[in-house]
Amino acid sequence: MAFTFFCPVKLIFGQPMAEALPPVLADIGAQRVLLLSDAGLARIGLAGQVEALLRDAGQQVATFLEVKTNPTVADVEAALAVAQAADVDALVAVGGGSVIDVGKAVGLLMTNGGRYADYQWRGQPIRRAILPLVAAPTTAGTGSEMTKVAVIEDEETHSKRGVLSPQLFVRAAILDPALTASLPPGLTAATGADVLGHALEAYAGRRANPVTDTLALDAARRAWRNLPHATQNGQDRAARREMLLASALAGWAFDQSGLGIIHALAGPLTAQYGLHHGLCIGLLLPYGLAYNLPALGDKRAGLLSALEMPPTLSDKAIVDRITAWLRGLGLPVSLREVRGVDVAQITEADLVAWGQAASAMAMLPNNPRPATAADCTRILEGMI
Ligand SMILES: [Fe+2]
Repeated sequence: MAFTFFCPVKLIFGQPMAEALPPVLADIGAQRVLLLSDAGLARIGLAGQVEALLRDAGQQVATFLEVKTNPTVADVEAALAVAQAADVDALVAVGGGSVIDVGKAVGLLMTNGGRYADYQWRGQPIRRAILPLVAAPTTAGTGSEMTKVAVIEDEETHSKRGVLSPQLFVRAAILDPALTASLPPGLTAATGADVLGHALEAYAGRRANPVTDTLALDAARRAWRNLPHATQNGQDRAARREMLLASALAGWAFDQSGLGIIHALAGPLTAQYGLHHGLCIGLLLPYGLAYNLPALGDKRAGLLSALEMPPTLSDKAIVDRITAWLRGLGLPVSLREVRGVDVAQITEADLVAWGQAASAMAMLPNNPRPATAADCTRILEGMI
C-alpha cells in the first residue's frame, strides 16, 4: 500500500467567528480584505456583522456580496475586479461552497494572473498559491473549506468545470456552528445529503487509504445520526455542530481519495435541470449505492457499522433504509418527485446522452465498480 495525504488547512472548530477571525488575519499579516458572501446572508445581517468585525480588527474592507448559488465565470470576474480595485492582500469567504469556491478562483487569479478559463480542468499549471483565503462555511455540505478544488459554471456551455490544485487550499477554515443555525430545513437536508454522499464515495473509492477511510466513516456516522435532528430543529446546536464537523471530515476525505458514480451521475442531471447539488446527490444516493454494494467486499462491514445497520442486512434492505432516511428528510428519491422535472418529457435519447456524459466525468474511474455509459443510462432509467 502506498499513498500520500496532504492538507495544509488550519482548522479552527467550535470557536465563535468573532474570536477566531481577527487572530487568523493577524497571522496572515492582512491589512486590506475582500469579504465575499451572498445576498441571502447579506439580508439576514450576517455579512454586515462580519464586515463590522473586520473593521473593528483594523482591516480596510471591500465587499462582494452577490455570489450566486451556481456561480459563473462572470461572477468570478466581477469579484476579481473589486479585489483588484481595492488591492486586497487577503480574502474572507463567508457562505456555502459557492462563496468559498469563488474565493478560491479570485485568489487564484490575484496571484497567478490570466483568466479562470486558462486554468480549468487540465488547463495551465497553477504555479503560485492563491491569495490567503479564510473560509467560514455557513452550510454543512460541500466541505470546500478542506478541498483543493473550485467548481465554477461556464456560462457558455453550462458545464461546471473545476480547477484542481494543491495551490487552492484555503489558509484557514473557521467552523463556527452558529453560522449554520439560520439554514432552512430544505437546504439543511440537501446539503447534509451531500455530506453523506462525499463520505460514502470517499470510503468506497479506489483511491481510498486508511486515513481517508477513518475520516469518511466518522463523517458518515455523524451525518447519518445527526442530519435528521438538524433538519427537524435548526436550533439543535449539538446536531448543527456534528453536521459541520461531518462536512469538513467528509470534504477532507474525498479531497484525497476522490468521488465516484453518484457525483458522476449528478453532472448531467444538474446540467439538464439546474438542480441544487445536494438535492441531486440525495436523489442519487440509493441508486449509486445499489450499484456499488455488490463490489464493496471487505468494506461493506465498515459502511454498515457507520450507518448503524446489522451486518446481515441484504443489499436491498440497506438501500431501503437509506431511501427511508432520505424520505424522512423530505428529500425526493425519484426523478418524478423532483420539482421542475417532467419525466414524461425524458426520451430514450436523453437517457443515452446523460449516460455518456456521466461516463466521461473525471470521478467515474475512481468508482469501486466499473461503469460503462450503458450502465449509467440504466441507473438513470431506474430513477424515473
Ligand atoms: Fe458533492
